[in-house]
Amino acid sequence: MSERIVSAEFNQEDAALESLRPRFLDDYIGQTGVKENLKVFIQAAREREEALDHVLLHGPPGLGKTSLAMIIANELGVNIRHTSGPAIERPGDLAALLTNLQPGDVLFIDEIHRLSKAVEEVLYPAMEDFSLDIMIGKGPTARSVRLDLSAFTLIGATTRAGLLSAPLRDRFGVISHLDYYKTNELSHIITRTGRILRITLDNDAAVELATRSRGTPRVANRLLKRVRDFAQVEQSSAITLQIAKAALKRLKVDELGLDELDYKILHSIIEKFRGGPVGLDTLSATVGEESDTIEDVYEPYLLQMGFIQRTPRGRVVTVRAYEHLDIPLTQNNALNLFQSE
Ligand SMILES: Nc1ncnc2c1ncn2[C@@H]1O[C@H](COP(=O)(O)OP(=O)(O)O)[C@@H](O)[C@H]1O
Ligand SMILES: [Mg+2]
Repeated sequence: MSERIVSAEFNQEDAALESLRPRFLDDYIGQTGVKENLKVFIQAAREREEALDHVLLHGPPGLGKTSLAMIIANELGVNIRHTSGPAIERPGDLAALLTNLQPGDVLFIDEIHRLSKAVEEVLYPAMEDFSLDIMIGKGPTARSVRLDLSAFTLIGATTRAGLLSAPLRDRFGVISHLDYYKTNELSHIITRTGRILRITLDNDAAVELATRSRGTPRVANRLLKRVRDFAQVEQSSAITLQIAKAALKRLKVDELGLDELDYKILHSIIEKFRGGPVGLDTLSATVGEESDTIEDVYEPYLLQMGFIQRTPRGRVVTVRAYEHLDIPLTQNNALNLFQSE
């Protein structure tokens, strides 16, 4: 009984988040190149009354991959079935999903880099010829039967395109990389979210939140919600620049969007590993965070900001990071930099 209530609450929270998802390409802010291409491919597929070519979306978490998959299905006017790599345990699970698709439908596989080899092999003929090879019977009388599927569109999303096997990657007709958003795009997204959630927000406050959102819409929306809490408790009817700044300070998000874990990562490399190089697993053990989270969420942004670099021997901190943290460079904490001079 109590489990039911909990799951209902989850759904409510989900529904609240769903309302923020853009539903059409025109509401999807930024990623202009990706969007313009998709527009053409979607229109062409609609005109030919064919399934859209398979689409692979890759990029860091929170940049809008799931949203874009849903928009594509919506713009095509087809159903979308949503699953993920780890959720498809056996080849039979995938077969069941595939045989239930209507012509033109979208099958969305999130975290597609986590599909097992056995499942992936079922996917190859399905993507290529819309067919399924299934084994009937066991032992010496077993035989393989080919089953026709409806023409469908596979949309795969991944934070790690590099982990995709070449045969799988080659079967996607459209491969799109999502990049970090620019400040003006994020401030647009924040303003849009404010409108949907009925939050009164000054323009300069939106820009301030945008500059601290790590180029990521999910972070932007989250910061806006937390800052709204501060405004409400302070009984301010609007989020002003001053309130935004004070709230961000208390949330420990700095001017560039770095949070406590970013600081912990940089400080660890500098203080415990003399500026690096340090391997990912060692770093993960030192800061007490999963290496996947560091590699998917934290590292890409620190790399993008030019605070760390990847070398064959591990991660090293750059001069920029010492400057940002206001730590003087010494032989002791920046071994790598002194050696390379
Ligand atoms: N281009 C965009 N325009 C407006 N909002 C966006 C955009 N991209 C993402 N969002 C917002 O960010 C949230 C996270 O996006 P999501 O599609 O779940 O990212 P991903 O699947 O890449 O992790 C969405 O719920 C949506 O509200
Ligand atoms: Mg997603």
